[in-house]
Amino acid sequence: MILVFGSINIDLVARVASIPRPGETVLSPGYETLFGGKGANQAIAAARASLPHRVAIAACVGDDAFGRSARDNLIRNGVVADLVANSAEPTGCAFITVDERGENAITVASGANATLTEAPIRNYEVDASTVAVFQMEVPFPASLNFARHVRAAGGRVIWNFAPAPPTFPAGDLSDLINETDIFVVNEHEAIAAAALLGCETDDFEAAGAYLSKSGCICVVTAGARGAFAFRPDGYSETVEAKPIQPVDTTGAGDTFVGILASGLDEALPLTTALQRACHGASLACLAHGAQAGMPTREQLGIA
Ligand code: RIB
Repeated sequence: MILVFGSINIDLVARVASIPRPGETVLSPGYETLFGGKGANQAIAAARASLPHRVAIAACVGDDAFGRSARDNLIRNGVVADLVANSAEPTGCAFITVDERGENAITVASGANATLTEAPIRNYEVDASTVAVFQMEVPFPASLNFARHVRAAGGRVIWNFAPAPPTFPAGDLSDLINETDIFVVNEHEAIAAAALLGCETDDFEAAGAYLSKSGCICVVTAGARGAFAFRPDGYSETVEAKPIQPVDTTGAGDTFVGILASGLDEALPLTTALQRACHGASLACLAHGAQAGMPTREQLGIA
């Protein structure tokens, strides 16, 4: 079973010719209201890639229309949402601008996500078959405590260090990596995380190799270049991405993480799970919004 411990947002998305610089205002013809949040995106990507009833999410939404529709959307997509709690804060919102090349800039107003604690999962049964998935849009102490609980029960932890916080204590990052089996970062997050631990480099491969020496597998996603996996024993491999013309890259990293979790839950070898995740992340870039392009098992070519 996959349990995602993470965020749920409503994404307010405006398409622009180019993303505004500080102090600049740009016009967009309109905006869309879409489902998002790294936790919800990863849970839905995992559910679409998995057999039924394999994915649950622990999260917080507001007692508002956004929260109710986000919860319904999870259920419609086959995610068990019993552990989605109501908060006194409003449902999280992400303000997203997407430019003509499909690149984005995102501001997340955390709202209810900032109130997530371990309370909803206190009685949730974890065991050696649990694959738990974490990101950085909900409180870190609660995530770390739950990760410890999962690992103590023999389960596996995937931690997506995204969005990489602008400041984060090195001790907390060491604690995080100590409780992580697979640490997933993009190129920038890899470099930032390695710097926090004392390795100054502008080479994401060097950063990934360095991070893996702490004892986890470090997977660096590198867009069109695919994904790079670094193991603690020094072995590394590259999985190529299929060339595509991206429409919107929002949620591509989340799709990668969700499908990777699904592959581990199915006991696939890591290389196969990474190949499936890369393929799925490419497909996710072919539609607007974080979730619309996330592939089903059929679209991934899984029998
Ligand atoms: O990774 C994409 C997601 O980041 C968006 O859906 C948005 O909600 C932000 O959390």
